[in-house]
Amino acid sequence: MPRHIAIIMDGNGRWAKQRYLPRIAGHRGGVENVRSTVRACAEKGVEYLTLFAFSSENWRRPAEEVSFLMQLFISALEQEIAKLHENGVRFKVIGDLSRFERPLQKLVADAEKLTVDNTRLTLTVAANYGGRWDIMQAVKRMLADKPQLAADFMEPDLLPYLALAYAPEPDLFIRTGGEQRISNFLLWQLAYTEMYFTDTLWPDFDIAAFNAAIESYQRRERRFGRTSEQLREDAPRQTPRRVSDGR
Ligand code: IPE
Ligand code: IPE
Ligand code: MG
Repeated sequence: MPRHIAIIMDGNGRWAKQRYLPRIAGHRGGVENVRSTVRACAEKGVEYLTLFAFSSENWRRPAEEVSFLMQLFISALEQEIAKLHENGVRFKVIGDLSRFERPLQKLVADAEKLTVDNTRLTLTVAANYGGRWDIMQAVKRMLADKPQLAADFMEPDLLPYLALAYAPEPDLFIRTGGEQRISNFLLWQLAYTEMYFTDTLWPDFDIAAFNAAIESYQRRERRFGRTSEQLREDAPRQTPRRVSDGR
């Protein structure tokens, strides 16, 4: 089972269009599907689920759609946070929250605080997130903390400042909706992640589709730069180490 799954939930607009509905109906359908995906992850023992909800580029959408998405985020959070907490879910948001309105910032801070000690599943929502922003903010915060590193620094110096520092790197990346691109999602963290792309639109991505993605992951051999033969020799003793472990 992957410990950490990261998902680009794409295809809400096209799902609505197929049904002659406005795009916002697709986003509502998308939220429904987030609910069942979170439940499935908790049941399967997935430890981290990271969902791309709003990219730093999504501000370019029509103002009404942006404002609907913000409202939807607020109402979903208000409705779900107690249940998430009851079910042992730790809730986190990554992204540049400074562009959000105060009430949403407060809601997020309260939700994170309420669930901070939960250990069953860490649910991270990426909102106004961009992979390049993440790397830049990490460098800036690191240098503000430790100005002496300006002369020279190494990967381990930077890691604690990346937005997902609390999670292992994703094992499985899923993008629904047919596009095969990263769209400025987790650039640093996806270095050795297994990629899974499907044409299924996000609101249609049900448990069977989710299981198919996990099965695809389970058939893959993660070599982390080594050869198959090395992995077979090592298998009884240890699982392959991550690149960032520096081995
Ligand atoms: C993804 O669905 C949701 C967000 C980006 C917020 P889209 O809205 O991108 O749906 P399509 O790609 O237009 O179908
Ligand atoms: C990526 O979807 C962002 C989210 C799902 C939140 P988009 O639909 O915005 O991606 P592009 O612009 O088509 O690459
Ligand atoms: Mg899209």
